[in-house]
Amino acid sequence: MSEIRKVVVAGGGVLGSQIAFQAAYCGFDVTIWLRSQGSIGRCQPKLDKLKNTYFEAIEKMKTVTSPVDPDWCRGIAEFGKFDADACIAATEKAYAGVKLELDLAKAVADADLVIESMAEVQEEKSAFFKMLAPLMPAKTILVTNSSSLLPSSFTKDTGRPAKYLALHFANSIWKQNIAEVMAQAETSQPSFDAVMEFASEIRMIPLPVNKEKAGYLLNSLLIPFLISGLDLVANGVSDPESVDKAWKLGTGAPRGPFEIFDVVGLTTAFNIVEKYQKVPGLLNPLLKKMMMPYNFKAQKALLKSYIDAGKLGRSSGEGFYKY
Ligand SMILES: NC(=O)c1ccc[n+]([C@@H]2O[C@H](COP(=O)([O-])OP(=O)(O)OC[C@H]3O[C@@H](n4cnc5c(N)ncnc54)[C@H](O)[C@@H]3O)[C@@H](O)[C@H]2O)c1
Repeated sequence: MSEIRKVVVAGGGVLGSQIAFQAAYCGFDVTIWLRSQGSIGRCQPKLDKLKNTYFEAIEKMKTVTSPVDPDWCRGIAEFGKFDADACIAATEKAYAGVKLELDLAKAVADADLVIESMAEVQEEKSAFFKMLAPLMPAKTILVTNSSSLLPSSFTKDTGRPAKYLALHFANSIWKQNIAEVMAQAETSQPSFDAVMEFASEIRMIPLPVNKEKAGYLLNSLLIPFLISGLDLVANGVSDPESVDKAWKLGTGAPRGPFEIFDVVGLTTAFNIVEKYQKVPGLLNPLLKKMMMPYNFKAQKALLKSYIDAGKLGRSSGEGFYKY
């Protein structure tokens, strides 16, 4: 078990409220730090809604018979160990337990972990870390949930390079329960390990990202994938259904890029594309930053090491995975 017990989430927006609720659901002592009375007014309804979302999810899970059913919420219970009454009790306890605090010094006075989940504005995050640095006790580990700003952009502001890293969640964390744990150059191994352990303790699947990478693991794959699919159709190469079929039938994946676009929402997709169009050249540097240059030599060497060991894939009983 990690030594983390007291958790402070800075920012009570979409993700901050989810992280706080999920940590409280798993028994942690949780405080959300908010900057104003107005923020409390916006955060409280999010917590009210989360309580109902958990109740509804628990109700649906009573009828689910497979762990891969989309209604199965891995953040709420382990498949095969689902006890609806216990989950309802934990939800009620989480709802009653999350504290909202406006005084930052008071909020973090005895914090083991501070999770920064404020709006994605570099200057504001930087100012926040500078304000926070002198208030935290020496033991506190500090993580950022930033999706697009690299943790190293703020290392110097935090005043604790060894105890600072990224812990990145996906939206709807009670269901899409991955947590990407990403070190910056100065993060210590014990801090990294403690955050990996904490992520497991709040029922996330922790995924190590051992060095800084824009887009972490998921978006490094997903964004180029979605953009490549869109480009095929936009250039008249093929149609959405065929692109999705190529991907799904060719790999066994459950959804193609256009089905994912439908989930994300076409307005959001449109806004993203429009943003790139208005700022010429933005997309290319982003893609360059997100996609590492191909290293065919290393790719071949890796594959050969498996082949030489007789690990040919599913057909031989083992490839990258064991079957
Ligand atoms: N929304 C997502 O799907 C998602 C997924 C993973 C990570 N993230 C990351 O999580 C973070 C928060 O995103 P969100 O979607 O919850 O945003 P949001 O806009 O819903 O919430 C932002 C919160 O930050 C607070 N805030 C803004 N500026 C502040 C300041 N100067 N001082 C104190 N509080 C301030 C707001 O009051 C609000 O509570 C971002 O870094 C984002 O990249 C978001």
